[in-house]
Amino acid sequence: MTPTIGVFDSGFGGLTVLRALIERLPGARFAFLGDTARLPYGSKSRRTIARYAAESAQFLVREQGAEFLVIACNTASALALDAIQDAVPVPVLGVIEPGAIAAREASTTGDVLVIATEATVHSHAYAAACRARGLRAIEKACPLLVPLVEEGWTDHPVTAEVIEIYLNELRAEAAAQGMNQDALVLGCTHYPLLRPLIERAVRPGVKVIDSAEAAAEQAVEIFNGRVARAAGGAAAETEIRCFATDSVEKFERLGSRFLGRPVGHVELIDLGG
Ligand code: DGL
Repeated sequence: MTPTIGVFDSGFGGLTVLRALIERLPGARFAFLGDTARLPYGSKSRRTIARYAAESAQFLVREQGAEFLVIACNTASALALDAIQDAVPVPVLGVIEPGAIAAREASTTGDVLVIATEATVHSHAYAAACRARGLRAIEKACPLLVPLVEEGWTDHPVTAEVIEIYLNELRAEAAAQGMNQDALVLGCTHYPLLRPLIERAVRPGVKVIDSAEAAAEQAVEIFNGRVARAAGGAAAETEIRCFATDSVEKFERLGSRFLGRPVGHVELIDLGG
């Protein structure tokens, strides 16, 4: 039988990762959970993020039979990957390492910029993963971007202005450190939806790296053999079940932007407070 791949995010932004997975693993079975009742994770403490993420991972494994987990949430990947691995008996892939690997491949100067939530930036998980690969990275929290995307303002002049201000601040910091950056990592599930605006705001020669795409590439290396074997070479249909802890209607309405196709019916679940 085709194994179920569990995909977890604090909200429905992680559908960008699911979308990248579906493109690469047609015929797989997916269970996606967005912990929308407790979003945002990006402004919370490590302890709280670890508890929420572990409970969510357990739901996907125990109740949905997921045999692999992809942690689409950058914040949970940065602060709670260990806690998630301890909570479930299945392989777990986060988005930070794939993002850093993609930055290594993209950068020739060795200097990269990272934008992410407050919690991800304060953890310095991206800087550490980049340093381990010989890169110098500076990170910047962009807390206004998640609410702007949640509002659906993905192509709005206000959002473009906010991006410009954040990137100007980040460039000034990079210049003060004598950096010559040639890559920018989108270290948050929501930022791929802003990619056109971000690409317009970066300087020529700076590549924009989507950690969702990078994680999906790595997931394919891990899962592809198993999915293909289980399907027995037959062209099976992709199966997707979506769960949320709140805001099911909003998930169904806005989720299609992230997934690039209708999300269909989203099931409401309760993971407690
Ligand atoms: N999913 C989070 C991330 O990728 C963004 C939303 C939140 O703060 O919960 O960091």
